[in-house]
Amino acid sequence: MLKIAVLVSGSGSNLQAIMDEISRGNLNASIEMVISNNENAFALERAEAKGIETYVFDRKTYRENMGDKILEVTEEKVDLIVLAGFLSILKGKLIDKFENRIINIHPALIPSFCGKGMYGIKVHEAVIKSGAKFSGCTVHFVNHNVDDGAIIAQEVVPVYFEDTKEILQARVLEKEHKILSASIKAIEENRLEIVDGRVRIKDI
Ligand code: GRF
Repeated sequence: MLKIAVLVSGSGSNLQAIMDEISRGNLNASIEMVISNNENAFALERAEAKGIETYVFDRKTYRENMGDKILEVTEEKVDLIVLAGFLSILKGKLIDKFENRIINIHPALIPSFCGKGMYGIKVHEAVIKSGAKFSGCTVHFVNHNVDDGAIIAQEVVPVYFEDTKEILQARVLEKEHKILSASIKAIEENRLEIVDGRVRIKDI
């Protein structure tokens, strides 16, 4: 049983997707805690409804040492940290202590439309503006640089000329829910190895 901490900032639909997969018996994991950098995140209500322990570390208060606060509550308690729409950048010892044990979902096809300042609806806006015909989402390991760690899984969606950023966001989000749980499952089942900075994964 894989023990996980899920980090959130907003609605928490990705958190919900993970909880649902666990409830259905498709994912042998237990969410030990949900950590939010925003006290108003709806994700906290989703967690509380399931009786999951929650922590709030305000984004502004812990701007510089968010990583340290998270390490304080997760160290020795969880095997994997899942960033599911978490909008603070993590730095410091946490990244080394949890090397290859922190994953993030990004709502575009890395290495495009990613990096500092490229998050949430801004990503979809930039994709539409670029004229790209496809977008998607990426699950990747977290390292010391933003959106830079080894890619675990990706899913592609079409971009239509009439799309608004909100329509594209909804199309991508549906795929996020699938590949985030699938990636956690692959980690739990030891189906993943890192070779020369790239992830080899069986049956994703
Ligand atoms: C997702 O699109 C995620 O990729 C992004 O923020 C959104 C979070 O959605 N970084 P939710 O809170 O899981 O509903």
